[in-house]
Formats: sequence, C-alpha cells, structure tokens
Amino acid sequence: MDNPAPIRLADYQPPAFLVDKVSLTFRLAPNTTRVLSRIAFRRNPDGPGGPLKLDGDKLTLISAQIDGTPITPTLTGTGLEIDAPDAFTWEAEVEIDPEANTTLNGLYMSNGMYCTQCEAEGFRRITYYPDRPDVMAPFEVRIESDLPVLLSNGEEIERGDGFALWHDPWPKPAYLFALVAGELVARSDRFRTMEGRDVALNIWVRPGDEDRCDYAMDALKRSMLWDEEVYGRAYDLDVFNIVAVDDFNMGAMENKGLNIFNSRLVLASPETATDADYQRIESVIAHEYFHNWTGNRITCRDWFQLCLKEGLTVYRDQQFSGDARSHAVQRIEDVQMLRARQFPEDAGPLAHPVRPESYVEINNFYTATVYEKGAELIGMLRVLIGDAAWQQGCKLYFERHDGQACTIEDWLKVFEDASGRALSHFARWYHQAGTPRLSVSSRHEAGELILTLAQETRPTPGQPEKSPLHMPIRIGAIAPDGQEVVADTVLELTEAKQEFRLPCQTPEAVPSVLRGFSAPVILDQPLSTADKALLLAHDTDPLSRWDAGRSLGKEALMAMILDDAAPDPTYLDALGKVLSDMDLDPAFQALVLALPSDEDMAQTLAEGGATPDPLRIEAARVALSTAVAGQHRDTLANIHDSLAPTGPFSPDAGDAAKRSLRNAALALLTRIDNGDRARAQFDTASNMTDSLAALTCLLRIGDGVTEAETFRKRWQSDRLVMDKWFALKVGTAPGETGVGIARELADDPDFTWKTPNRFRAVVHALGANHSGFHAGDGSGYAFVAEWILRMDPVVPQVAARTMTVFQTFRRYDADRKALAEAALRRISEAATLSRDTGEMVRRILE
Ligand code: PHE
Ligand code: ZN
Repeated sequence: MDNPAPIRLADYQPPAFLVDKVSLTFRLAPNTTRVLSRIAFRRNPDGPGGPLKLDGDKLTLISAQIDGTPITPTLTGTGLEIDAPDAFTWEAEVEIDPEANTTLNGLYMSNGMYCTQCEAEGFRRITYYPDRPDVMAPFEVRIESDLPVLLSNGEEIERGDGFALWHDPWPKPAYLFALVAGELVARSDRFRTMEGRDVALNIWVRPGDEDRCDYAMDALKRSMLWDEEVYGRAYDLDVFNIVAVDDFNMGAMENKGLNIFNSRLVLASPETATDADYQRIESVIAHEYFHNWTGNRITCRDWFQLCLKEGLTVYRDQQFSGDARSHAVQRIEDVQMLRARQFPEDAGPLAHPVRPESYVEINNFYTATVYEKGAELIGMLRVLIGDAAWQQGCKLYFERHDGQACTIEDWLKVFEDASGRALSHFARWYHQAGTPRLSVSSRHEAGELILTLAQETRPTPGQPEKSPLHMPIRIGAIAPDGQEVVADTVLELTEAKQEFRLPCQTPEAVPSVLRGFSAPVILDQPLSTADKALLLAHDTDPLSRWDAGRSLGKEALMAMILDDAAPDPTYLDALGKVLSDMDLDPAFQALVLALPSDEDMAQTLAEGGATPDPLRIEAARVALSTAVAGQHRDTLANIHDSLAPTGPFSPDAGDAAKRSLRNAALALLTRIDNGDRARAQFDTASNMTDSLAALTCLLRIGDGVTEAETFRKRWQSDRLVMDKWFALKVGTAPGETGVGIARELADDPDFTWKTPNRFRAVVHALGANHSGFHAGDGSGYAFVAEWILRMDPVVPQVAARTMTVFQTFRRYDADRKALAEAALRRISEAATLSRDTGEMVRRILE
C-alpha cells in the first residue's frame, strides 16, 4: 500500500482561473454517457498565475477545444493541464460509464435511474473542471434521454421530446451540481415565500412510494417558513426538487434546487416508519434545506472550512427541531449523540480539529467532530456574545458574504464586528482537537459560593501541547429543599484554572454546573449520590437534571462492574420520583429511564483509567435494568397500560413522547415478565414504533424467534423495513451470539450488501453492538474487517466509514487489542486499498 501525500490548509492557493459560465450537455446511456462541456474561463487577477489545471477522474477524453481550435491537452493522472490565454472558451467531450460506477460518487445508476453525487470531489468524475469550492459559476444543463423525468439544478427553461434544459442562475461550486433521470413520480405542493415567490415543491420517488412523502413535504414547508421567520432567509428559485434514491453513501445532499436523499430519510408511513425515523426525516429535510443559505449561497473556500457550512447547518437544524418539538428533549438527545459519537473520536487515533489542517481523502472528514462539535462551537459563540450580537452577526454574515466562498476567519470576523469582542482566544476551539476535561470543586465561605474551575486537554495525534480554551460555563445552585438559590449565570473560563465567587446564603447548596451542556467538555464534579439525586429531582435546567440522573446511573453501574456491588438504592429511588412526577414531559421521563449505553460505560471506564470488559458491562446493565423493573413494577405496568394508543397514529412530538415512555417501560418490564407484555404488544401493534419496540424487547431477552420470522414475512418486500430487521437481529444478541447472527445474515439471499443501507444494517449494526463487536474470540473484529475489505473496491467511502468502529480498540484488554490489531493489519496489508480506507487504517494503527 502506498501513502498518498496529504493536502494541507497551509498550502492553499486561490484558483488560477475563474469560471463565468458553464454549459453542459448529457447524452445519457448506461455504459456510454457523453458529456459535452462549454466553459467560459477567465484568469483570476488574484490568482497565482500559471497554466489552467482541470481535475478529471475516470474520464475518457474524446475531444477538446480552446476557442474553437482543437487541442491535445497534457493528461496528468489527476486531470489535465493547458497553457491558456487570459480569457477563453473551453469545450470538451468526454465519455463516462455510469452503470459501471459502483462508488456512488459522480454519475451512477440506481434501479435504472441516473443519479449524481458530487460532494466533495465527484464532479471530476463527470467532466474536466476546476473541482474546488472556491470556483463558482452559473450552470446551464441539457439532458438528452428518453426517460420521462429529467432534472438538474435551478429551473427548467425548455422541455422537448427526449431532452430538458435547466438553468441555475445562482453561481455555485461544482460540488452542488446534480442531475437525475428516471421513471419517477412526484408528490407536489407549493410554498409562497415572504418575498412573494410562488415555489413549486416536488418530492420525486419510485412509483409505489408516492404515498409515503407527506411527512417530508410537511417538514419541508415548515423548514422554509422557519428560515424566513428566524433567519430572514427566503428561498430563491421557483422550484425546489427533492429526489429519494435507494443507493446513497450518506444521509442526503444539498445540491442547489435539487436535494438528493437516501430514501430512508424521505419515505415514511405509520406502518413502516418509527418515531425516530420521523424525527430524523424532519431534521434532515430541514438540514438540507437550510444549506441553501448556509452552504450554497455562502459556501466554503476549501474543504478545510467544511465546518463553516456543516457546523452551522447542524446548529440550525437542531434549533429548528427544538422549536418544532421540545428544546429540553432536543438538547438532551444532541448531547447524547455528541458523547456517543464525537467524544470517542476526539479521544482516539482519529481525533482532529473542527477545522482540520491536513487530509489525504476529504471524504474521511465528514465526521462527528466537523458536524456535531462544529455545531457546539456555534452554540458557545452565541452564549458568549449574547443573543443580540448573535442575530446582528448572522445578518452581517449573509449581507457581507452572499455569493462568496468563505473561511472560518470570515465567520468569526462578523461576530467580532457585531459584538465588539475579540474572538481570537475562542478561535482556538477550531484548531485544537480533543475534549477538554473540566474539573470543578466548590466550597462555601461567608455568604459566597466559591467555584474553582480547571480545564485540561490531553494530547491528540499531532498535537502534544494543548492550550486553555475560552468556554462559557452556565451554572446555578439548588438548596436541599429544592429551591434554586443561585440563579442561572454564565461564567467565562479562559485560563487553565480560575476561581469564581457568587453570593449565596445557603452553605449546603449544590452547584449545578455546565447547564445546557454549555461547552463540549467532560465534566468532573465530585458530587455525592445524594447531591446528584437532589439535582435530578429539582434542577431547573432540564439538561443538567437529566445528566444528574445519567451520572447516578453510571455510578451505580460502575460499582456493579468494578466491585460486584448491588444496584444502588439511591438511584432506584430517584428514578421512582421521576416516574411518578406527572408534570414531566414523558419524552424526558423516557430519557431519564434509559440506562447509560454500553459504549458510554466503556468510555467512562477508559476515561478513568480502567479497562472495560464488554461482557461485564453488558451483565451489569441487564442486572440494573432488572432491578429497576423489580422495584417499580407497578408504576411501569401502569405507564404501559395507561399510555396504550387510543386514536389514529400521529407522528407529532406529543404522541411520540408518550410512545417513547411507554416503550421504555416495556423494555424494563420485559426483563421480569418473560416477555408477556412485549408479545402482546407485538401481536396488536398497528404502527412500526410499537411493533419494532416490542420485537426489540423480545430479542434482547433472547426470545422473539417466531415474532422475528412473522415480522420478516410481513415486510419481506419492503427494503426500508427489512433494513431495520437486519439491524435489529444483529444488534440485539450479545457477544459471540451476535457475531454468529451477523455471519448467518451475511449469507442471506436478501443481504444485498452493495446497497450501503443494507451493508450498514449488518456490518455497522455489529460495530454498534458493543459486546458483539468486542466478542472475546475476536470474531467480531474479523467479521467487520472481512466486510470492509470486500466493500472497499465497490464503495470505498462506505468501507472507510466502517473503519471508525475500530477507533476505540486500544481501550480494551491485551487479548482484544491484539485481535483487533491483527484484523486491522489484514486490512492495511491488502494488495489494493482505496485512498479512503488506506488513510483510515493508517491513522487508526499509528
Ligand atoms: N453535505 C451533506 C450534508 O451534510 C453530506 C454529504 C457529504 C453527502 C458528502 C454526500 C457526500 O448535508
Ligand atoms: Zn450538511
């Protein structure tokens, strides 16, 4: 395996040539698609000079002309180079083979439909072009094909027999280009913008799927309205198209005026989609729509600035979902996700700054750090400068940078200008990898609560030395009687260690620190179990309240894992109080009731210097669940009975909250009733949420064999539901049993592994099954490695992404480490490996 040279931020150079206009003609044919390009180039006055360099990958060049004169360009291996005049028209014809393109990058085919994916660097697989985000141009696209539906970016300006002509007036980088052609049907609607524009909305799907688009359409209209109301941003074309495709590497893609979605993030009906699916569809529809301003109208100068569009757009979709549902629940779920996915990344060999400084393959940097930690930085920025400056800064950003390709420096500057505050210290968050540890100690003295806050970040790959960061720490304090005696306050920590004094007349008050999870840190605050129980019962901040419960749960599990302790009665009692508090949102109660995940426990144990034992963690979690169920049997049964569905299914937050609590209760009760309730629920369930929840409960107690078969028979022909079935079977069986099931299912005729969704439903599902993946005999590691090697030549991006399941392998005992390392070596020693997977395995093994 060779090691390609990394691309570095420090080497950035502006483009030598700019593009004024792009005209493309596609003559579609499965194996021999011809792409004709006509591009107006002009030398960039601020560029470095030199020849015209165009990127190109897997293209067969048929002909090329400059201002009408045929030329023979020099092919460089990654594209071509030409000595060109200062302004000229480039014309080229290339041939490509969409049917042979299994990578799902560039122009490819899925179920007879033509589809594109160009972010980050897929456009170079379509034609020769400066495939970099800082080259923006208007596009005109002619599609020639007999297929009935022919779509591209912008608006259709002509339609005739066998062709369509599209025009996108908004200058855009090539990564936002899209084309779709196929036998599709649309679910259509309209939206009138605040500027009076009447926009046609279409969701294009395979025939038969059109009755599963209502929710996505509703979410789209709500997103459009929300961006007008909250950010003053209106849609800017007369049509907005969304296409659902089954074969897709990622979730969805924000191509200008033509968003392309993984079909699992569009299609929903009560019978086939769970509440979690509905919630995810709503947030991803919003996310891609919001990119129209944060990403498309204002884009990234280079791929190091990815968080400029992704962190901000995640922040915006989280805000939207909070407004649409519940801010408290949204925040808890976002924090849960950050801890589950970003913290392990930041603590392991793949750690990188929110704005990375180098990469080999940019597709490997669409990470939880860039997306989710990127969103956290925006939340912190807002707290630090305050709402008024935040609003003003956003307005300034849209005014100042519309139509530009920007950097994080541009982004921070608008907030410096709006707030009058220097943000150079805060900017370190973008450069420094690793999750800071925040240690808190407190004492009471002469009418004051004295808090000592200390921060420390451990070394990460390439960054041995760390500096203190500027972080907002929201705090309050609760008296033993439950009253809040120190009201919500933001402390600004800028140094390694600082002391803060707050007036407080209650010496016994318990400080509530990191309210709202105001900074993405690991909190180390030594509180007694009684103090945690107090915060769980009375904290006024819902995130801290939930987190106090979480912390109690972890402590209880920790004692069971490390010291064979009995389930902690304080924790059991505290849960009882939450369960019987009728004023609480059931979704919140459900979140408190869910025990810390095995991954969460492994992370916490490793954090504290212990070696996690997956089977002990698993056993402790089961024992604690059983104890909770035993102690609260009647309350839980009452919840499960009284929240039984009454009217017709509605996916709204209120009903979903009740189902989540009811199913959390069922999960516990199934530990002590031999699955009687779960079986009854499975037999009568009229929606996927309740049906899948019941089946999950049964499989988790090693039961549910007949139910799983019934489920499969019923949904055999529904690809999205079958993905759930595969994932559930693999995800619910512990240890080596889990691996055995994964192996069995990998031989199943329905395991169509070249479709990323199905691959993930088995391989990623095993990676997410903690005791399964880390099975003591190494069979989990071997299985995943085998499939990564198999997938790598077919869809390298999916293979590379699967590598992340290995990122925590050094946490475990010597035997497991050796087994995982052997599996990793098998990957790294493969005769051929994609650049994507090559980079991942090198980083993980380093
Ligand atoms: N830009 C997409 C999003 O976050 C993600 C994506 C990246 C999709 C690369 C495909 C390829 O909305
Ligand atoms: Zn995005």
